[in-house]
Amino acid sequence: MDRLRATFGRRLREQQPLGRYTSARIGGIADALLEVNSLDELADAAQTLWDLGTNFLVLGGGSNILVSDAGVRELVILNQASQVRFAEEEFHSVWAESGAGLGALARQAAAKGLGGLEWAAGIPGTLGGAVVGNAGAHGGDVSTVLDLAEILHHTQGKQEWSAADLAFGYRQSWFKGHPGEAVVLGARLNLVKKPASEIRSQMDAFLAYRRLTQPPGASMGSMFKNPPGESAGRLIEAAGLKGKRIGSAQISPLHGNFFLNLGEARATDVYALIQAARQAVRDQAGVDLELEIGLVGEW
Ligand code: EPU
Repeated sequence: MDRLRATFGRRLREQQPLGRYTSARIGGIADALLEVNSLDELADAAQTLWDLGTNFLVLGGGSNILVSDAGVRELVILNQASQVRFAEEEFHSVWAESGAGLGALARQAAAKGLGGLEWAAGIPGTLGGAVVGNAGAHGGDVSTVLDLAEILHHTQGKQEWSAADLAFGYRQSWFKGHPGEAVVLGARLNLVKKPASEIRSQMDAFLAYRRLTQPPGASMGSMFKNPPGESAGRLIEAAGLKGKRIGSAQISPLHGNFFLNLGEARATDVYALIQAARQAVRDQAGVDLELEIGLVGEW
C-alpha cells in the first residue's frame, strides 16, 4: 500500500465502500480505489500497476457484477473516461472512451439520426463493460456493431483489435478468458444513417418491452446466461422460485432471472439465492445454469 500511496498520492482513495458504484448497491470495502477520467489516465494507471505487479480490476457501471461483502483487495480503477466523438462523413460511426455509458451513446446516436444501437437503449453500464461482456438485447449485441476496440495489453501495449480478434460469443469475449491481461480503453462502433423518428420508435418499443418484462430497482440485470434454446427466467419460474426472498435479496416476482436488492441486501444473501435457483433448476429441469454476472472480490 505504501508503494501505491507514493505512486498515486492523493488520487488514491482508501477504504472505499463499493456498493455505491454498483447497480445492485451491494458490496464491501475496496482497500484502494483510483478514479480515472480519460483514456490516457486509464492507460497510465493500468501500465503503472502492471509495472508494480499490483493486481487491479476496472470498474465501469458496476451493473453486471456482484461484489462480495468482504470487499476487494485488488486496487479498483473506477473508469470515468467518457469522451464521445461521432464521425459523420462517408462512414458513420461513434468512437468513445470505455467509461462512456452504453445507453447514453445509443440515445446520442439516435438524436443525430444514426441507427444501429437501438437494441442498447436502456442497457446500463459502460461501453468497456459492454465490450468485455458482449452486452446485448433484442437480437443485437456489441459484436454486431463493433468496428474496433482500442485496448492496452499488459505485454504488447496499445493495440486496435477487430471484432474477430475479440473472439465474441454469447455474453463472451477474449477478455473473459484472460482476466487482468488487458483493459479496454475505447471502441468504435459502426452506425447507419436513418430517420431519427424511425430510430426513436424502435427504441421506444424496446424500452416498453423492457419496462413490461424487467423489474425496476437495484439489480445486476440478468443473473444467468440463457441456456441454449431456453430462458433462465422461465426455468427459474418453472422451479417455483419467483419471489423467493433471503434477507433483503429477492428473485423478482416479475422476471425469474433478475435478483433484486430490496434495501440492505448482502452479497451472501444474493449468493444463497443463486445457489437455491441453480439447485432447483438442476432438480426440476436437469439444466446447469451458468452465471452471467461476475463475482468480484473475496468469496
Ligand atoms: N419468461 C418466463 N418467466 C420469467 C421470465 C421470462 O416464462 O420469469 C419467458 C418469457 O415469457 C419469454 C422468455 O422467457 O417467453 C424470454 O424472456 P425475455 O423476453 O424477458 O428475455 P430473456 O431471455 O429473459 C434476454 C436477455 C436480456 C435482454 C432481453 C431482451 C439474457 C440472459 N437475457 O432476456 O439481457 O434484455 O433478452 O432482449 O440473455 C442481460 O443480459 O443482462 C439482459 C438483461
